[in-house]
Amino acid sequence: MIEPSGLDAGAAAGQAVVRADRGCVIWMTGLPSAGKSTIAETLAPALKARGERVELLDGDVVRENLSKGLGFSKEDRDINIRRIGFVAELLARNGVKVITAAISPYRSVRDEVRELVGDHFLEVYISTPLDVCEDRDVKGLYAKARSGALKGFTGIDDPYEPPLNPEIEIATQGETPEESAARIIDVLEARGYLDVP
Ligand SMILES: Nc1ncnc2c1ncn2[C@@H]1O[C@H](COP(=O)(O)OP(=O)(O)O)[C@@H](O)[C@H]1O
Ligand SMILES: [Mg+2]
Repeated sequence: MIEPSGLDAGAAAGQAVVRADRGCVIWMTGLPSAGKSTIAETLAPALKARGERVELLDGDVVRENLSKGLGFSKEDRDINIRRIGFVAELLARNGVKVITAAISPYRSVRDEVRELVGDHFLEVYISTPLDVCEDRDVKGLYAKARSGALKGFTGIDDPYEPPLNPEIEIATQGETPEESAARIIDVLEARGYLDVP
């Protein structure tokens, strides 16, 4: 018997998104220490365990290679986000589930990336409030920013513009990273990017 192609199988099952097209960009945005990297690092292996091709583009890692040399002016932050968006789109169009974890504080450049990626762009607002993020202060940078030793820190003396219509919003306080990742998986299933087990 000839096996149906992924495309036919998806269409036959009446799925919203057929298998060959199931790449997407899971674009996390939020304040420093909101939980973007932690959720991304929890979500990525969970998706791989379900047989998905996954790539994680973490802002801190990208700044050490693809965006090495860029600073934190608005212009440089925007260039960094455009680069992440460009790579994310290339991967997603080839069926990869791309997870990005960068602060991406400015709405206009996030919306630019949304335009570039098209339908398969899922904006995930990690909406952990500033006081919780500041208490966590994973890298000690809020303390430095408050003391004046660090200038232009998002949330303190550089703006964070929250998404107006994110596909997913996650407030991490009071839930584990696994629970947060599971909520993203629920949306991926509901939208046809993952089979419901
Ligand atoms: N539900 C949750 N999701 C993600 N992180 C959480 C959650 N609850 C608590 N945390 C903690 O919050 C911190 C988030 O740090 P990190 O992921 O590095 O933030 P970001 O990448 O957004 O700067 C970690 O110390 C993590 O353990
Ligand atoms: Mg991070």
